[in-house]
Amino acid sequence: MMKVFIVGGAGKVARHLARILTARGHQPLSLYRRSEQADDLSALGAVPIYGDLTELSADDLSELMSGSDAVVFAAGAGGASYDLTNAIDGDGFRKSLHAAIRADVPRFLQISAFPEAGRNSEPQEGFENYMKVKKQTDSELAASDRDWVILRPGTLSDDPGTGKINAGLAIPYGDIPREDVALTLATILDMPRINRMILEVTSGDTAAEEAVARLSA
Ligand SMILES: NC(=O)c1ccc[n+]([C@@H]2O[C@H](COP(=O)([O-])OP(=O)(O)OC[C@H]3O[C@@H](n4cnc5c(N)ncnc54)[C@H](OP(=O)(O)O)[C@@H]3O)[C@@H](O)[C@H]2O)c1
Repeated sequence: MMKVFIVGGAGKVARHLARILTARGHQPLSLYRRSEQADDLSALGAVPIYGDLTELSADDLSELMSGSDAVVFAAGAGGASYDLTNAIDGDGFRKSLHAAIRADVPRFLQISAFPEAGRNSEPQEGFENYMKVKKQTDSELAASDRDWVILRPGTLSDDPGTGKINAGLAIPYGDIPREDVALTLATILDMPRINRMILEVTSGDTAAEEAVARLSA
């Protein structure tokens, strides 16, 4: 049984992840910031952990993470303002990584963004900043001493998951249901040999278990 601390635990991918981890016999610990989210998270089998990423100190966060086997960074400002992106996706990520190191949590998974994201439309300043912040935080995680995985999903949808994905170091761009991103994260967590890798993932034809297992072959 793994304890998995999910930063941004009330998010859409994070809720799927909590449910899938619970079904696999793991214990998700889901950081949330709105009181009305606690019951939903409990119903998914998660331990709801109250805290706002922008207000918690790294020490506080480290105490909350203590005893966890892995952290998944699933928080994000949702492409809101420049400042919020910097505060959540940027500084919130850094605080989470430092807290994980301080709490001696060995594994850290980051939900990042596909390099082609937004390339088919006119560049928007806020989105360009989001991409810059994600790349910067990816590089900080990759330089850390944790057992890290950076997962770069294509465009997220709320379609039901199919359980089938395409995953690789570099694959063509595409869409993917949030549920399948969560399944991919859970599958990676269950396969510790998938480590220190940047992976791209979209919908595909291969069962997630097999697709992820192939990456370590
Ligand atoms: N959209 C795409 O196509 C796409 C593609 C590739 C990657 N991604 C990445 O995938 C991530 C997950 O996607 P998603 O759809 O699951 O996102 P989401 O539903 O917007 O979840 C993000 C979570 O972050 C939380 N959060 C924001 N500010 C916070 C704070 N101050 N303290 C604590 N939590 C805070 C939000 O909390 P509340 O619930 O309280 O608002 C929300 O639950 C995104 O953040 C993005 O970086 C997105």
